[in-house]
Amino acid sequence: MPVPGPGYSITVRLEAPPSASAAGDLTTAVGRVGGVLTAFDVVESHADAIVVDITANVSSADHAEGITNALDELPGVRVRKVSDRTFLMHLGGKLEVSPKVDLRNRDDLSRAYTPGVARVCRAIAANPSDARRLTIKRNTVAVVSDGSAVLGLGNVGPEAALPVMEGKAALFKKFAGVDAWPVCLDTQDTEEIIATVRALAPVYAGINLEDIAAPRCFEIEARLRDQLDIPVFHDDQHGTAIVVVAALRNALRVVGKPIEKCRIVVSGVGAAGSAIIRLLRRKSPADIVAVDIDGVVHAGRDGLDDNLRWVAEHTNAEGTTGTLHDALVGADVFIGVSAPNLFGAEQVATMADNAVVFALANPDPEIDPLEAQRHAAVVATGRSDYPNQINNVLAFPGVFRGLLDAQAHHIDDDMLLAAANAIADVVDDRLNASFIVPSVFDAAVAPAVAEAVRAAARGEAERAEAVTSTT
Ligand SMILES: NC(=O)c1ccc[n+]([C@@H]2O[C@H](COP(=O)([O-])OP(=O)(O)OC[C@H]3O[C@@H](n4cnc5c(N)ncnc54)[C@H](O)[C@@H]3O)[C@@H](O)[C@H]2O)c1
Repeated sequence: MPVPGPGYSITVRLEAPPSASAAGDLTTAVGRVGGVLTAFDVVESHADAIVVDITANVSSADHAEGITNALDELPGVRVRKVSDRTFLMHLGGKLEVSPKVDLRNRDDLSRAYTPGVARVCRAIAANPSDARRLTIKRNTVAVVSDGSAVLGLGNVGPEAALPVMEGKAALFKKFAGVDAWPVCLDTQDTEEIIATVRALAPVYAGINLEDIAAPRCFEIEARLRDQLDIPVFHDDQHGTAIVVVAALRNALRVVGKPIEKCRIVVSGVGAAGSAIIRLLRRKSPADIVAVDIDGVVHAGRDGLDDNLRWVAEHTNAEGTTGTLHDALVGADVFIGVSAPNLFGAEQVATMADNAVVFALANPDPEIDPLEAQRHAAVVATGRSDYPNQINNVLAFPGVFRGLLDAQAHHIDDDMLLAAANAIADVVDDRLNASFIVPSVFDAAVAPAVAEAVRAAARGEAERAEAVTSTT
């Protein structure tokens, strides 16, 4: 059941009598039908009427209509207009391009554009790596989507994906000063996506793949990594994996369990689950048991694709079979990136003592967090209305800041783990069961992640150079 939140907020402009009780009547009417009032502004005042903007968080279109009707039915009140503040924020898009140079006169023009610019072009033609020094390439990332797996909405296509990609680009700039630009492609063909991204790569110092459905996303990322000399990062995979590994490190500190002794159940072996499993393996847990819509993933299961076969071969040391509920018995950790409402408190009770439950399916988690809390020692979700929100914003801005600063040509698991450690470290001595990851607004996060990734990327480059110079 959705609850009122700032993601759905309306402003109702209305006329009301200028009586002493008007404000009280209006705000009471909103509260009576479950709206959360966030602002009350008198925008016009006359002898016989006031014009008021009432802003409230609502839970759905029906709820918004109920609030509007409750206000309109008050004696002497007339609703003039209802605006959806989320749509207002999107009018004309959320991004713009703004030049960094002044173009005041002919002199400026001759340097920024022709004829002066031609010398810069020739310099780059002679030495293509100068593109990072003399163009926007230095600080620019493409946010590439085919619109096939957008949020929880599914395959909504490239135009409908654009508001999400614009939002992502805005976050890149806000949190890490990275100039990111949405590139929504009108194709969902693997070969066409790879060829298109390869063709547009010269402008960018990094590619952030976004909301591309599994299993296509695995091949697209792997082949682009092979073909391009800039880092390629699929945020739905690796951004999630970084934050989950960071959160798990701190959750296990809270419960005092070493990861080497933990059996971890991962529900969902799509984009997020596969990447989480791959990165978690680097931390050497006692075992990982992966579960998808067809049950526990094991080597004897029919119909495994390449991704699931890899997972079957690298997890489930004890050869467990059966359902998610079977897998949970005795498990120390549950990580869900799958589907809503898969189990309840009674299954958490079958887990090991001091269980850790990360129920990350959005918008509705695998288990109601309040249910999970009855038996688990630490609970995290993807939601902003509960403690311990696992949010990729903690990772991707700093990751790309670090990669761009290091002028990295690729990204690897060492860099992802460095980012995870940096996020976990920011929590420091504030750690407790309700605070295993920092707030997304903690200004220390992106610089810490950037520094860790930069160091890991530079270490990598130095090692590569040492190998080249000795061969
Ligand atoms: N930070 C976060 O909180 C965060 C990050 C990434 C993904 N997610 C959420 O995780 C979920 C999966 O995302 P994805 O991009 O990996 O999707 P995906 O479509 O690539 O994979 C979904 C996986 O869930 C499995 N699944 C579906 N129904 C299931 C069921 N009833 N029982 C067990 N497994 C089931 C599928 O078999 C598949 O392996 C989504 O709800 C997404 O919003 C949250």
